[in-house]
Amino acid sequence: MSEISKLDRKLTLEIVRVTEAAARAACNLVGLGDEKAADQAAVDAMRTALNELDIDGTIVIGEGERDEAPMLYIGEKVGTGNGPKIDIALDPLEGTTLTAKGGPNALAVIAFAESGNFLHAPDTYMEKIAIGGGYPEGLIDLDKSAGENMRALADAKGVPVNQTIACVLDRPRHAEIIASIRETGARIKLISDGDVAGVMATANPDTGVDMYVGTGGAPEGVLAAAALRCIGGQMQGRLVFRNEDEKARAIKWGVTDFSRVYNLEELAAGSVIFAATGVTDGSMLRGVRQIRDRVHTETVVMRSHTSTVRYIRGNHRA
Ligand code: FBP
Repeated sequence: MSEISKLDRKLTLEIVRVTEAAARAACNLVGLGDEKAADQAAVDAMRTALNELDIDGTIVIGEGERDEAPMLYIGEKVGTGNGPKIDIALDPLEGTTLTAKGGPNALAVIAFAESGNFLHAPDTYMEKIAIGGGYPEGLIDLDKSAGENMRALADAKGVPVNQTIACVLDRPRHAEIIASIRETGARIKLISDGDVAGVMATANPDTGVDMYVGTGGAPEGVLAAAALRCIGGQMQGRLVFRNEDEKARAIKWGVTDFSRVYNLEELAAGSVIFAATGVTDGSMLRGVRQIRDRVHTETVVMRSHTSTVRYIRGNHRA
């Protein structure tokens, strides 16, 4: 049994404190129109909480590279240093604009894996397609049109295509994807931000979302893959480069094939633990609420080793 598998029972509770701390800090900035301040508050709180853990942690997906991110940068060591070697993917505030505007589905997110098991994705975009569990392997294909993928999913689900829903980030760059899906008669849930929650929605039948498709942040792609590894599902991702500088960054992190399609296990391999705490109310989690002198949080924490999914409600002193 791997080191992280042996320790993950303990870590699953420890990791919850980390996302709770970030969400609680960010919630003070919900609706105040200041994305940077909200992000900074979450970063500070997450870093403090992480440094209390008995782990020898290295950030592999973080706030950016050392020269551009003063904290939680890629390569930063976190934890007390006494404990298992762990690679960490994190986004202290996934949905900075959502938070600033008081919109839904902002999350504090983190994932742990054994050293070397997360794709060291540069801070570029990634084309993504994801579906929930229970479908035949290989059902989705990034090289097919979104419409073709939607039809294949409807067939596998055994429902008319007009009873399926795709989740897509509302961006002009997705015009072709949206047209291709609409042509099939399938429905689309357009979201303004937050594609980690968008991908996770495919694994939660309550949301009605069957497929996530479109281009979003590459770091968010790795985090979403970590979540799907725990709850089940399929995903493919392909890095998208806008210029030579982004390619150079990718080379630095060991990416040599720029057009490679990564499957779920190539994005997040081995034993993975994932946690997300709601900052604002969403389809999966309620956001942080302060009621008199108590602060209420809702967190989902899960691990791939057992596929256990736990919802933890925290009731904290304000
Ligand atoms: P931030 O929290 O960093 O603002 O990310 C929000 C987000 O919507 C992600 O969920 C998504 O992957 C990415 O931004 C999409 O990027 P863009 O806003 O440039 O289309």
